Amino acid sequence: MPRERVTYVCQSCGHQSPKWLGRCPDCHQWNSQVEERIESPLHRRENASLGTKEEPSPIEQIPTEEEGRALCGIGEFDRVLGGGLVKGSVVLTGGDPGIGKSTLLLQVLDGLSRSGLRCLYVSGEESQRQIKMRGQRLAITSPNLHVLSETSLERIIEQVKKVKPAALVVDSIQTIFTTSLPSAAGSIGQVRESTSSLISLSKKTGLCTFLIGHVTKDGAIAGPRVLEHMVDTVLYFEGERGYNFRILRAVKNRFGSTNEIGVFEMKEAGLREVTNPSEIFIAERPLQASGSVVVSSIEGTRPILVEIQALVSRSFLAIPRRTTIGVDHNRVALIVAILEKKMGLHLFNQDIFVNVAGGVHVSEPAVDLGVAVAVGSSSMDKPVDPSTILFGEVGLAGEVRAIAQAEARVKEAGKLGFKDCILPQANRQQLDHIKIPALSGVSSIADCWRILF
Ligand code: TYD
Ligand code: MG
Repeated sequence: MPRERVTYVCQSCGHQSPKWLGRCPDCHQWNSQVEERIESPLHRRENASLGTKEEPSPIEQIPTEEEGRALCGIGEFDRVLGGGLVKGSVVLTGGDPGIGKSTLLLQVLDGLSRSGLRCLYVSGEESQRQIKMRGQRLAITSPNLHVLSETSLERIIEQVKKVKPAALVVDSIQTIFTTSLPSAAGSIGQVRESTSSLISLSKKTGLCTFLIGHVTKDGAIAGPRVLEHMVDTVLYFEGERGYNFRILRAVKNRFGSTNEIGVFEMKEAGLREVTNPSEIFIAERPLQASGSVVVSSIEGTRPILVEIQALVSRSFLAIPRRTTIGVDHNRVALIVAILEKKMGLHLFNQDIFVNVAGGVHVSEPAVDLGVAVAVGSSSMDKPVDPSTILFGEVGLAGEVRAIAQAEARVKEAGKLGFKDCILPQANRQQLDHIKIPALSGVSSIADCWRILF
């Protein structure tokens, strides 16, 4: 009988080594390696294929039924998926504990089952009664929604074959284990094996599978970076502690754009979609206070208005502080340098804090001008007119450059009652037909200063 072989697998990145190492050479995580028995090559091969023996065929001869997408009726969710759920796809949803992943997916299944699809919600964390209690809170009554409390992969697959659902939720992939591996539930081997079995089941039967994944302290979906490569779509459900807003973000999507975000609000009776996030993100802004401006940022396919706040105050440190929340730190440093050089602001001895209100992150260069004006406004203690919105990319020479989708941004601002809009001159020229808000084109930060201050 061959001797049993073991390998040491890093639980955070999946790196394998024949000996135990204190620090993973791949992801540099300390104390992350766990002993796992090596599976027999035969078993591995069986699982690696999708179980169908296919011959290569010319691409133009492969039949495609126009695959309709299933809609769950929660507009924000459908949009993040790229316009509904694709048959046979596997969606991984990650997020901090308590953020509302179970609630979201129960509501999604409710929506799907209302449209007549049979759905199965499998939880390895809660009992049927607990799920029912949550369901009551969410007013779920659909007879098409089945609930199961189970952690064994084999039994889950057995039940899926029996119930034949169109959509399946596995609430936390980390709690599921397969008896084909000796390692403990939640270890990377188990998680990878369970996921690959569920993926192959989905691809074979056209079942849509949602996996819920826990997120580790440093923000990755626990253990398996590898999981992200295996599934079709990876969604992150995030939100700041203390806010009721939740943002659903696609970080990988084989069937749609990854820039899309969906905004939800956690209420007494579950998550409610927020169809006009701009209203919320700028609702509580202080009027006539220096350092606060509203910019228009494109998230995915739609413009969202967000408030950028800056606070510039005298520093008593040898190296003044530069703190940013929600915007890129390096871009802020760059803009501060431009303001010093081109606009003559004295910022070298000032602490600068820049924050995007409402816990959103904006990563577009179009918010540059907003950051510049917010910092300038706070530094000079001159407020910006609250009915003014601005956007534009700032270059190193202090020039303001054109950005994409200017019209959509301007229209959104008009809808929300903004009267003036400062935008790059190059964009201004193409928007003569727009009357509200009043547009002022600028080609440099200095131009912008002349209008505002
Ligand atoms: P949950 O979906 O259990 O989070 P996760 O699965 O990501 O761990 O959500 C738990 C939180 O949501 C909990 O703190 C209570 C809150 N909540 C509401 O505010 N309203 C509701 O209707 C529900 C079901 C939960
Ligand atoms: Mg949960």
